[in-house]
Amino acid sequence: MKMIYENNKEFHLTTDKTSYIIKVLPSGHITNLHYGRKIKHRENFDSLYQNFNTPVGLEVNYSKYIDDFTLNTTKLELSTYGKGDFKEPSIHIEMENGSRVSDFIYESHKIFQGKYKIEGLPHTFENTTDQKGKNRDEVNSLEITMYDENSDVYVILQYSVFYYKDVITRSCRIVNGERGIIKIHKAMSMNIDLTHEDCELITLEGKWIREKHIQKQALSKGVYYLDSKRGVSGADHNPFMSIKKKNSDENNGECYGFALIYSGNHQGLVEVNPHEIIRLQMGINPFDFSWTLHKEEGFQTPEVIMTFSYEGLNKLSRNFHNIINNNVIPPQWQHKERSIIFNSWEAVGFDFNEKKLLNLARNAKELGMELFVLDDGWFRGRNDDTSSLGDWMVDDKKLPGGLTQLCHRINEIGLHFGLWVEPEMISEKSERYRKHPEWAIKLPNREPSLGRNQLILDMTNPEVREYLYKTLKRIFSSSNIKYVKWDMNRSVTDVYSNYLESWKQMEFHHRYVLGVYELIGRITKEFPHILFESCASGGNRYDLGMLYYMPQTWASDNTDAGERMNIQYGASLLYPQSTLGAHVGSNPSLQTLRNNSIESRFNVAAFGILGYELDITKISNFEGKVIKKQIEFYKKHRKLFQFGEFYRIKSPFKSNQSILMVVSEDKNEGMIGYYQKLQESNMTLETIKLKGLKEDNQYNLYTREQFMNIEQFGELINEFVPFEVRTNGLKGLVHKIVSDNYLFKGENQRIEAYGDELMYAGFKPYPQFNGGGYNEKVRYIGDFGSRIYYIRTNRTSK
Ligand code: DGJ
Repeated sequence: MKMIYENNKEFHLTTDKTSYIIKVLPSGHITNLHYGRKIKHRENFDSLYQNFNTPVGLEVNYSKYIDDFTLNTTKLELSTYGKGDFKEPSIHIEMENGSRVSDFIYESHKIFQGKYKIEGLPHTFENTTDQKGKNRDEVNSLEITMYDENSDVYVILQYSVFYYKDVITRSCRIVNGERGIIKIHKAMSMNIDLTHEDCELITLEGKWIREKHIQKQALSKGVYYLDSKRGVSGADHNPFMSIKKKNSDENNGECYGFALIYSGNHQGLVEVNPHEIIRLQMGINPFDFSWTLHKEEGFQTPEVIMTFSYEGLNKLSRNFHNIINNNVIPPQWQHKERSIIFNSWEAVGFDFNEKKLLNLARNAKELGMELFVLDDGWFRGRNDDTSSLGDWMVDDKKLPGGLTQLCHRINEIGLHFGLWVEPEMISEKSERYRKHPEWAIKLPNREPSLGRNQLILDMTNPEVREYLYKTLKRIFSSSNIKYVKWDMNRSVTDVYSNYLESWKQMEFHHRYVLGVYELIGRITKEFPHILFESCASGGNRYDLGMLYYMPQTWASDNTDAGERMNIQYGASLLYPQSTLGAHVGSNPSLQTLRNNSIESRFNVAAFGILGYELDITKISNFEGKVIKKQIEFYKKHRKLFQFGEFYRIKSPFKSNQSILMVVSEDKNEGMIGYYQKLQESNMTLETIKLKGLKEDNQYNLYTREQFMNIEQFGELINEFVPFEVRTNGLKGLVHKIVSDNYLFKGENQRIEAYGDELMYAGFKPYPQFNGGGYNEKVRYIGDFGSRIYYIRTNRTSK
């Protein structure tokens, strides 16, 4: 199938629903004629080219040989400094003679089947395993070589078209010629100039235990940056941005999405210039970056995934989910249902021994969990977070038979075994640091700043990487390990490498990331059967670069259902549920001290990779019984929860509720998550317009069987339970006995309706408790309460 048309140096890249048209101008620069909804191909799109045909005051004419042509009013695919484009350049190079002016002109191009090559960096790949249906790939690529004769430097612009995914990826490669040494000060992966038509910018903003909050802002003239200077992609601003037309929303209208496949310092730039051109860039943060190229050396930038939707943000997110699930995460984990985890961290922290762990494991098994993860604290000296990172020798006081015996016993209980590591770190209090203080990132004559009492290893140093590779290999081969949580708990400061020469110090941050990629690439290849989950104090490195090696990420250290509702809703803009680790924590929440019912904690975590990390040896009978039922339910519908097509229905960033939905690929099944922040009094009746169903299918909708802890009703217990409770002055005790022995079911709404009715007229849930009494047709949701509804076809349309 033809995906890339070329005619007279005009290129029309087409996907199923989008067109991307670029053209070489008479000056040799490349202009963007259209990116957006698909248009019919024709021989030439000259009529889409627009520029001033007269001199423009204040602007500089590019060349005396071309009349009235100024780069500042031209939409460019590659922009440089010094020839009249006064917007932010995408590439900025210093030549040996000190000049910083460059000007890249079309030299040649090639169009070929498959993906362009990217070495040493994570990237999208053609999925050769899934050749059916909508996951099949038809990928074609275009590479345009641009040349600056004056400096003898080449820039190769790389484009790949994933036809059925409605995705175009971009990257670029800078290659030095033979003339001399050059220094790259800025090398963005993508530059795209569009017309400003009342646009808004959406980004994912956050901090520790509050990641991925959706921020929307109107775009006006000026320059806006989102970036990271933490050495990792960071919780502050995720390497993702979307530009949408003001009148578009979740379900309608035009929007663009851009995501960088990179785990280090990044920058996203949006500039609206006085001529109403919006310039968009993504790439390595030029701050504290420069890269030297000797003769004939090359530099590859990370890759950007771009997608466009005219059916609103929901479709944009599904495009991202689709490509991430099929073309970014490692092939062996694609569509592979993930186990239900028990994690020791929020349950016991550092305070455990083998007996305690086995006790937890027996309880986990009894409740239905499948994988036992031993988190931090298993290695010698690690009784708090002040020491021992870097040594990685098992603590034989806590675990006398080592990991091998523990793993064996856990396997005997009937659970898989998983382990926590934080390989990139080193504690000052450690053998390794005493032996190799020069391995830590720190300056020769300056006291380093500590984050969580620890320093970071210099991953630019191959000796460090080799030590880590051997150490991890020893640990991961020591027992039957099925899962590894790869943590990284501080950001980079005191930037300096004892290994790199002084002229390479500005290359440090990027070399650190390349070092991490090399190590995790080797390790994940060596242990392809181990499921790796990356983590950086939760979501400080939740990005597509890490997902290329490790298919899931611990989305946040916050297990509070109320806050997780926001985090997971925001994350869904880019990240599919299959990548998002989500656990049921203890009550009250360790991060907010908020009380959340056990059901709400589950209802939130269920829309991700489910786990539990509370002390399950201390939960009440009521919680134990409820958890068992939750796990049974999740196992039954695991595929739908982890891989279903995702829809946002109501935003917690705009309202008192969050509503979302997943639908199976064949549209025969779905789950609806309904979450509330605060209980309102005498609440208005609600309508929920479902998404993604087949109009002509008839569906049954059920409330997931959910239970209320009647202890919460205090004095009012008799208003709710269908039998009389006499407290005889022993209120607390009687409530406890009743709640442990009687599972009080919430309302159970059942509906039968066609898909069109549920989507266009809506599902009308039972009214919420309004102070006027309670019966089986009333929902008592309360503060931070929630529901899950399950929907299934009972009759399919032909
Ligand atoms: C930070 C992680 O995000 C937590 O889940 C836990 O693994 C701790 N580190 C352990 O130190």
